[in-house]
Amino acid sequence: SSKTTSLLSPNRILNIAHRGASAYAPEHTLLSYQIGEELAADYIEIDLQMTKDNILVAMHDGDVSRTTDHEGTVKNMLLEEVKVLDAGSWFNEQYPDLAEPAFRSIEIPTLEEIFQEFGTEANYYIETKTPEQYPNMVEELVATLQEYHLTGEGVEEGKVIIQSFSAESLLEVHQLDPSIPLVQLIHYSGKAQISNKELKELKRYAVGLGVNHTTLTKDYVKKVRNAGLLLHPFTVNDTEDMVRLLDWGVTGMFTDYPDRLEEVLEER
Ligand code: G3P
Ligand code: CA
Repeated sequence: SSKTTSLLSPNRILNIAHRGASAYAPEHTLLSYQIGEELAADYIEIDLQMTKDNILVAMHDGDVSRTTDHEGTVKNMLLEEVKVLDAGSWFNEQYPDLAEPAFRSIEIPTLEEIFQEFGTEANYYIETKTPEQYPNMVEELVATLQEYHLTGEGVEEGKVIIQSFSAESLLEVHQLDPSIPLVQLIHYSGKAQISNKELKELKRYAVGLGVNHTTLTKDYVKKVRNAGLLLHPFTVNDTEDMVRLLDWGVTGMFTDYPDRLEEVLEER
């Protein structure tokens, strides 16, 4: 799976830096994304939330308390209130061995700041989080992608992938810009299973599926791949799991350790 193979080819294995290289730096910060790029990840993975004044920011949780020094929900905060939060000290406290002074007081980035930093060179794998809470999230996202020349004519296929657990949100993207490749996220609690009918429905709008990896079976992977869909398990951090999933035929994966996946891929 050489890096010269096109991004959405089933023969290309995509290395997706989950929340950036989030094993090494506080998740969803410019530094975690930067490290992901340095570790040869193909994609910067971004989870989106939206401020009270309708600015898209990169955050996994709707609530700021896990990854900042404050409490509250992004939805009820203005951007200027979000920008003063310290999004890195929690990491230094939790992982003293990996702590860096540069992580202290690091800011939550807006989507625009990410695009300004990494430009059209990087590839972005963007998740609309709880889109039902944010009526204009998709519209803002699609407009911002256009503004930064990440979608539209002349842009490499797969430069941006949009992912969501919400099919509705993906269908909204599809309506606004049918050229953007979409990945339907699914979280199984038991063994992963999917019917031919479901696969057919998914094929109408999605190029692939993102599934929690511990529920996957060899048969499930085969079924999805035979249906002509890509399959990107999340979040795969152990080398043995990476090797097994690749043997089963997945076409990429979300990982906090893009360096581990890179190493596995180099050996294959
Ligand atoms: O987007 C794939 C994976 O990241 C989904 O899980 O909770 O880390 O966003 P989560
Ligand atoms: Ca995500």
